[in-house]
Amino acid sequence: MGSTLHRYLGNLAYVVVLLEGIWGYQMFQEIIPNGEIVPHPCKANIWRGVGHKMVLGGGERNQFGLDFSTAGKQWTKALCQLDSDGDGKTNGEELGDPHCLWTKGQSPSRSSGLSHPGVCEPVNSTLCEVKNFWVSCQKEEFKCDAINQNETKNVTVRFPVTEIPPKETTYKCMIFDLPQDGDYHLVATEAIIDNVNAMHHIIVYGCKNVENSTIPLNEPYDCDMLPGGGCSDIIGLWQVGVTGECHHEISGFRIGVNGYKRAAFEVHWNNPALLNGTTDSSGLTFYYTSKHRQYDAGALLFGQVYLYIPPNEKAVTALAACPGDCTRKVMKDNIYITFAFNHMHYLGIHQRIEVWRNGSKVQNVTFDEKYMYDNPVIYRFDNPIEVRPGDELRTTCIFKSTSRYKTTTYGMDTSKEMCLAIIAYYPKDNFALATCHQWNSISTCDWEKDVIQGCRHKDILNITIPESAAIYRSVTENCAPLGKCQKECVGIVKETKQHPCFQGDMDKLQRMKAVTTQDPALKNKLMDFFAALDSCNFELALEAKGLDDLNTSCTTSSDGIKVCSRAGPVFTIQPLLLFSSFAFLKFL
Ligand SMILES: *[C@@H]1O[C@H](CO)[C@@H](O)[C@H](O)[C@H]1NC(C)=O
Ligand SMILES: *[C@@H]1O[C@H](CO)[C@@H](O)[C@H](O)[C@H]1NC(C)=O
Ligand SMILES: *[C@@H]1O[C@H](CO)[C@@H](O)[C@H](O)[C@H]1NC(C)=O
Ligand SMILES: *[C@@H]1O[C@H](CO)[C@@H](O)[C@H](O)[C@H]1NC(C)=O
Ligand SMILES: *[C@@H]1O[C@H](CO)[C@@H](O)[C@H](O)[C@H]1NC(C)=O
Ligand SMILES: *[C@@H]1O[C@H](CO)[C@@H](O)[C@H](O)[C@H]1NC(C)=O
Ligand SMILES: *[C@@H]1O[C@H](CO)[C@@H](O)[C@H](O)[C@H]1NC(C)=O
Ligand SMILES: *[C@@H]1O[C@H](CO)[C@@H](O)[C@H](O)[C@H]1NC(C)=O
Ligand SMILES: *[C@@H]1O[C@H](CO)[C@@H](O)[C@H](O)[C@H]1NC(C)=O
Repeated sequence: MGSTLHRYLGNLAYVVVLLEGIWGYQMFQEIIPNGEIVPHPCKANIWRGVGHKMVLGGGERNQFGLDFSTAGKQWTKALCQLDSDGDGKTNGEELGDPHCLWTKGQSPSRSSGLSHPGVCEPVNSTLCEVKNFWVSCQKEEFKCDAINQNETKNVTVRFPVTEIPPKETTYKCMIFDLPQDGDYHLVATEAIIDNVNAMHHIIVYGCKNVENSTIPLNEPYDCDMLPGGGCSDIIGLWQVGVTGECHHEISGFRIGVNGYKRAAFEVHWNNPALLNGTTDSSGLTFYYTSKHRQYDAGALLFGQVYLYIPPNEKAVTALAACPGDCTRKVMKDNIYITFAFNHMHYLGIHQRIEVWRNGSKVQNVTFDEKYMYDNPVIYRFDNPIEVRPGDELRTTCIFKSTSRYKTTTYGMDTSKEMCLAIIAYYPKDNFALATCHQWNSISTCDWEKDVIQGCRHKDILNITIPESAAIYRSVTENCAPLGKCQKECVGIVKETKQHPCFQGDMDKLQRMKAVTTQDPALKNKLMDFFAALDSCNFELALEAKGLDDLNTSCTTSSDGIKVCSRAGPVFTIQPLLLFSSFAFLKFL
């Protein structure tokens, strides 16, 4: 687990705040089953305006939209049993409600294998070609001046045809050589997406110190967040909805004899329907030039791993920040941002990245008033944005979870959430992580030690170790995760919270490890453990105020703040958040 931490962490920290619904725009999506995740018939997109001819809604209605309107803008049995687009499947079958049982707020009988109720599918069949004259399956064109310049060369690298396993989420990596016959700047990348239904993203990592890597080239292999083999510097990126990347003419990523000689793809495939036998051979075309630009570019990615999004909320806000003391440590001098974009998954509704200086906002980097996962906005800055050491880089994400029945946490699956900022900047060397960072009271270099602040931190969440197993059992057997505080739990949690591993920063560290655990079964266990450990927080807080439950009547407001009154003063207690939070930085 320790190594997972190293991947994610810088020093830093900020708060996850729960806010009340400011983004409560009501949409018809909630009135039909799976309305928020209806797929585009031929692109890796969600069709947002399900009843409209335009993917993002508005304008003319399609046949499903007309039928929906006739049905009084409600999901009626008749509408469900209709086959609006005439492709032989009822609207209910297309939207995951084949037996027409769904009502608003319920979980549809399935949420995978969906299709569009207003677009005849398969789109290119003889039957549908006639009906679908208004549907565009054309790929958007990639525009970038640099690719047409004389000196610009290109090379295309693709995965060999590779089978996509029947799993919701698969990560595959492949290491390959970059051109080594000269000294180049990489100035643009263009995506070649083979399987639009499965492709979620491609990240390109530049590789350093490659001489001892034993990973064979040009062969896809299973990987995790990082490809290994010395490949950890992001130099290119594609995600759903993007055609390619075109770098600012002032900078480029150095490749060739004086730069990266090798790179790795990391692709993320989505296969929520668990289909067997599908394949992919996507890749990228790299455009590079011997006519050097003024600066070497760097890229960085930062965000929040402490995501804890309760179900059925109109707006849950997460913050991730590298505050002044953080940028002072990681930056040698000013950097200039040329390019940025936001990344969340389906629950994301708003995201912005800002530069703050001396307590006030000086610049928006990104501002997605309405974030859309499948239609990301790429921000390019003709006048690059200056960031000085001492400035704060702050990302704010807002999630809407009214479509969920369970708490959503951080994770790489698209059914989990992310809050990530992706930025390209120059000069590359002005932003560099030192070997050690202070994370609150802990130096990240101490993570190598067995004991920090009296805590055997490598063992405490390893429930195959007897001492850890005993703590795990006593908490989970006596306390109800996210439930009512059980009497027998109070003493157990008081004692457990005295343990050096569950105090202060060590406690936060354990919680972050739990959140970033890759093995889903273990992660669930650990999340339950911490939820159980926190189940009496409110009662402990009451006790600390010298009050008891008996004469106190409390109500909980929608943002989780308990307001209690007694025969006497009224007081409020903020929710003790399961994850008090901090952000991570990853450098490229
Ligand atoms: C429809 O498109 C798919 C995928 O692009 C292709 O494999 C298939 O042959 C096409 N069918 C027709 C009838 O054109
Ligand atoms: C591109 O090449 C042509 C022919 O060699 C030359 O005339 C032209 O000046 C070049 N353009 C640039 C921008 O270098
Ligand atoms: C890539 O380079 C080749 C020459 O090596 C050229 O023929 C081709 O048009 C280039 N492709 C693009 C997309 O620019
Ligand atoms: C590769 O291995 C050799 C021999 O063990 C070692 O001297 C060298 O430092 C290693 N190179 C890197 C980049 O780790
Ligand atoms: C895929 O294959 C496995 C094993 O053969 C089978 O259990 C599973 O049901 C198949 N999934 C689908 C969606 O056909
Ligand atoms: C940031 O963007 C928002 C929305 O466009 C705007 O209201 C605000 O004034 C901008 N702030 C700055 C400092 O540019
Ligand atoms: C913040 O203000 C102080 C005092 O005015 C100044 O010295 C400092 O450079 C400012 N910080 C930044 C990042 O500009
Ligand atoms: C947990 O502890 C066991 C026994 O010491 C060890 O073999 C295993 O690698 C540990 N697991 C992790 C994830 O550290
Ligand atoms: C609860 O309040 C009532 C009336 O204010 C008082 O008579 C009683 O003693 C209180 N009970 C406790 C346990 O504090």
